[in-house]
Amino acid sequence: MTLHLVDDHDAATRRVTALVSTAIRETPSLVLGLPTGRTPLALYAALGAAALDWSGVRTFNLDEFVTLAPDHPGSFRAFMDEHLFRHVNLPPASIGFLRGDAADTAAECARYDAAIAAAGGVDLLLVGLGGNGHIGFNEPGESLRAETHVVPLHESTRRANAERFGGDWQAVPASALTMGMRQVLSARRVVMMATGASKADAVAAMLDGPLTTRCPASWLQAHPDVTFVLDRAATSGRRVR
Ligand code: GLP
Repeated sequence: MTLHLVDDHDAATRRVTALVSTAIRETPSLVLGLPTGRTPLALYAALGAAALDWSGVRTFNLDEFVTLAPDHPGSFRAFMDEHLFRHVNLPPASIGFLRGDAADTAAECARYDAAIAAAGGVDLLLVGLGGNGHIGFNEPGESLRAETHVVPLHESTRRANAERFGGDWQAVPASALTMGMRQVLSARRVVMMATGASKADAVAAMLDGPLTTRCPASWLQAHPDVTFVLDRAATSGRRVR
């Protein structure tokens, strides 16, 4: 486990931008797993402005809202198009994404797992942290699932995602498709970025607590090559420093 403790969100963004840029330069055929959310916004802006060749890169996003078509403005696919994909020379055929509007969601999940396997697995998975400890959309609860699956979203998660739905949390779909814990833990390298005081409790549970389904991100402690990039505010809840 590598822990990069930096001053603030800007410094965390610079650190992760450098990590991803190096990975793409060293491995032009990189298979890259990507998150959505506010945390990677500046990262995507920086990657979009960097002189990087994405022509050989393949991407797989972590999750998508059930029911939403890719061109729905609230979809994660639309978010990624807006903030990253349209700014880089990533071939459209190299973009892996879950279809929220799939008629058969179980088949869609199986298709996604097969597509990731066919790409040789994920080389570098970037993840963010839910305020409740979720990773992708693997929500805290009694149990976790290994494979890509459909998950009901907690109210707090829907509220956290309300911005792109006119601020109305009830307009946020009540369920999502997400990579499961096997996809997260079998990525060859994981980089977790979390910043801000709203993540402090989740960061403390993730780093210092037991591995528990109550904090899905705590399972990252078991990953053999995980890098945490955290700012001071996000680590302010830790008792052990
Ligand atoms: C979202 C996404 C996660 C993301 C998390 C944190 O709901 N499904 O992949 O990491 O919540 O989002 P933010 O970066 O906006 O805090």
